[in-house]
Order: sequence, then structure tokens, then C-alpha cells
Amino acid sequence: MISKVDHIGIAVFSIEEAMPTYRALGLEIHEVEEVPQEGVRVAMLQCGESKIELLEPTRDDSPIATFLAKRGPGMHHLCLGTDDIQADDERLRTAGLRVLRPAPTRGAGGCWVQFVHPKSTGGVLLELSQPAAEGEE
Ligand code: CO
Repeated sequence: MISKVDHIGIAVFSIEEAMPTYRALGLEIHEVEEVPQEGVRVAMLQCGESKIELLEPTRDDSPIATFLAKRGPGMHHLCLGTDDIQADDERLRTAGLRVLRPAPTRGAGGCWVQFVHPKSTGGVLLELSQPAAEGEE
């Protein structure tokens, strides 16, 4: 079941250069992680019960590099938290929505993630995220 807005993803050229703005808002980096399969460095900022995810490209063919080249920095995706991503994945496919991956894959923080194309959602790239189970590698 989808139960919360987990985080909002924001594309930045540089996490370091973006941080003074967020520090001025009273937010701090909770953790930084490199996700090589996505070609990004991710900084998670805790914001109450939600998070802000700053996404910095680590290579030119990263989807975030492509996004920045086309549209510049800004809001990239909205992530909804779920406790059953497999069921959500199937329900979305059945409903005819265009999911981006053949099946949920591992993303930042070891979470299982799936994405829904903006053309299926009225212009918003949606991420679904389920924390990895205890002890799951
Ligand atoms: Co995200």
C-alpha cells in the first residue's frame, strides 16, 4: 500500500553548491551515497517525515545529466513510499500506466524502486520506493 510521500527528488549540478540554500532553510545532509548504476550521487536531507533527495550526476550519460542538459536544475521526481512494490507494479501495469523498468530494482539506500513515466501521470515522474527487508542484501 502506498502510504506517504517518501521524498522529492531535485536535480542539481553540484550537491555542494546547492547546500547553502538548504542550510538556510535549516536542513542538513542526512547521508550521501553514490549509486553507480544510476550515475548519481545522492544527498538525503531529512525534512520532518519526508526527505529531499538532491541528485548530482557522476557521468555524462547519467539520466540526471540528460535532465540537467535539457531543463536545468529543478524538481525531478516525486517518490511515494509503499510496503508492497510488487503489488503496486502489477496494479500500475494492469491500469495501463507506463512503468520504466521490467521489474523493481535496487536504488539509493538499498530500497526497491520503480518509476512511472510522466506521460502516464500528467507530467510528473513518479518513483515508488519500498525499504529493503531486514537482512536483505
Ligand atoms: Co528518488
